[in-house]
Amino acid sequence: MPTSLTALLYGTAWKKETTAHCVEMAISQGFRGIDTACQPKHYNEAGVGMGLAKAYEKGLKREELFIQTKFTPLGGQDPKNIPYDPRESIEKQIATSCALSQKNLQTTYLDSYVLHSPIFPYTELLRAYKAMETLHEKGDVLHLGISNCYDLALLSQIYRDTRIKPSFVQNRFYADTGYDTELRAWCIQHHIAYQGCWTLTANPHILESHPMRLLAQKYAKTEAQLFYRFLTCKGITPLIGSTSPKHLEEDLAIFDFELHKDDIEKIDRLLM
Ligand SMILES: NC(=O)c1ccc[n+]([C@@H]2O[C@H](COP(=O)([O-])OP(=O)(O)OC[C@H]3O[C@@H](n4cnc5c(N)ncnc54)[C@H](OP(=O)(O)O)[C@@H]3O)[C@@H](O)[C@H]2O)c1
Repeated sequence: MPTSLTALLYGTAWKKETTAHCVEMAISQGFRGIDTACQPKHYNEAGVGMGLAKAYEKGLKREELFIQTKFTPLGGQDPKNIPYDPRESIEKQIATSCALSQKNLQTTYLDSYVLHSPIFPYTELLRAYKAMETLHEKGDVLHLGISNCYDLALLSQIYRDTRIKPSFVQNRFYADTGYDTELRAWCIQHHIAYQGCWTLTANPHILESHPMRLLAQKYAKTEAQLFYRFLTCKGITPLIGSTSPKHLEEDLAIFDFELHKDDIEKIDRLLM
């Protein structure tokens, strides 16, 4: 699969009953990476599976896709709709959640399985991660990841204490965390791919800034296209959750142009 096809991930949160349609649309437009979670509060994971099934009917093969989902710890679940028995051990919760994800997504394996947020105390987090390693050993999941992990000391501790190292970190890309500058540099050194979400929602001050407007004119692209292209140049995989066919088409077209090195630096300075 060309890397440009998984350099962008289609995000499926908050789409409720339109999820299947959105996933089918994103795939038919060209997306091959799909991100979801077994967290009914924000994601309709079964709807994602229905969208995938429609794509398979049109001839797409499972191996052409990168499917990523998450184990969401109890704190992130709606207490009235938890997709596992919270009285069970964390190991059992993860096994149940992963099996449900496979059923929802109509697949025998997941390309990436992500711990949706750190768990405290650390001993509990390690137990959870080791349960995810067991899924990896069984071939249920090919790669592991962690999300909402902004503490580099914690991330490096997880890295040190685990056998199957995380392949992905998925974090909100925003000013409050200094855009994870140090953490991202560490990820590059440790061959961990950084996935950025909230990239448009959290950054209107960048998208609407004068330098971005000038660059949009120079390249005849939208500010969103420029920002996504910039992110990919920095090795960041943006999560794209648009429901607009026009936006999805524009986003997939960002590989049709190159950003000049000076312009990458210009956008980089807007993050400071
Ligand atoms: N790990 C986590 O805890 C976590 C947290 C948040 C999100 N996520 C993931 O990230 C995904 C993306 O969500 P997000 O909040 O990060 O989205 P986002 O990219 O920050 O914002 C998407 C919004 O921007 C608008 N938009 C305008 N121009 C666009 C363009 N050219 N391309 C794309 N969108 C454009 C979209 O509206 P239109 O629909 O009109 O295009 C949509 O309202 C989610 O679906 C989820 O999978 C994960």
